[in-house]
Amino acid sequence: MTRAQLALCAVSTTYDGHPVLSEVSFSILAGEHTALLGPSGCGKSTVLRLLAGLEAPSVGEVLMDSHVVSQPQPVLLPPHRRGVSMVFQDLALWPNLSVMDNVLLGLAGVGLSQQERRKRAQEALALCAIKSLGDRKPSQLSGGQQQRVALARAIAVQPTYLLLDEPFSGLDLVTKAALLKEISTLATERKLTVVLVTHDPMEATALCRSARVLENWTCGRRRSAGGPLTYPFLFLLTLIYMPLRVVCLWNGSITWSLTDRGSSSS
Ligand SMILES: Nc1ncnc2c1ncn2[C@@H]1O[C@H](COP(=O)(O)OP(=O)(O)OP(=O)(O)O)[C@@H](O)[C@H]1O
Ligand SMILES: [Mg+2]
Repeated sequence: MTRAQLALCAVSTTYDGHPVLSEVSFSILAGEHTALLGPSGCGKSTVLRLLAGLEAPSVGEVLMDSHVVSQPQPVLLPPHRRGVSMVFQDLALWPNLSVMDNVLLGLAGVGLSQQERRKRAQEALALCAIKSLGDRKPSQLSGGQQQRVALARAIAVQPTYLLLDEPFSGLDLVTKAALLKEISTLATERKLTVVLVTHDPMEATALCRSARVLENWTCGRRRSAGGPLTYPFLFLLTLIYMPLRVVCLWNGSITWSLTDRGSSSS
């Protein structure tokens, strides 16, 4: 049976005393490509940072491969030992480095020779269709090109887990579709476990076969996953995600779950 590789167990997080995530639990199977959906500010990027080990939860545990890697306060397994690559929502490119050096920097700690690192970086740049831009600085690129640099940097590491925080939002439809196809093929071939945060149904269905809806709001009030639709938030959620539901029902290829409370099962 396929094991859960990534899991949040009853995780709560607060920022400056304000609750953001409240007892959120879900698990992601090995090799699963899942979309993480939810309204702006509900904590999607926070979930990715918890999975990457960039933050520890206030309550609860983060598990990788059945081992606890984060607990309240200590991050037990640091980010660089998790096999995780993340494309950040703000891209986090170094403005003083060239495109090639930005990608090479991500490969600094992976134990390859300089020649092998350069080859990997070139392959990743080619995959993201920016091979010719290696000498430019991020400020000399369009927004969409900068996004591809961030993607190339994440892919070059050949991670086990690929965490994507709205990485395609600045791309035109044609480029986006091509890149999604390439990443989907790559992720399947390399058996990557992928978590994609997106607001775009096309992205979700192109890359993912499952989706989780983060139902908490920044106020941290916990809503019942099975609550009646008369709750304003569920009504709103239904409106927001109706197009995606229709697409999913139509092609029948995606499974859904709301995040659970107090259990790691999805
Ligand atoms: N470092 C921080 N300090 C204080 N508050 C924060 C911090 N990071 C995030 N928050 C707050 O936590 C909440 C969740 O933020 P998060 O970025 O996870 O939301 P999101 O679902 O990714 O939103 P979006 O779809 O707009 O990117 C927001 O209200 C945000 O203002
Ligand atoms: Mg976000």
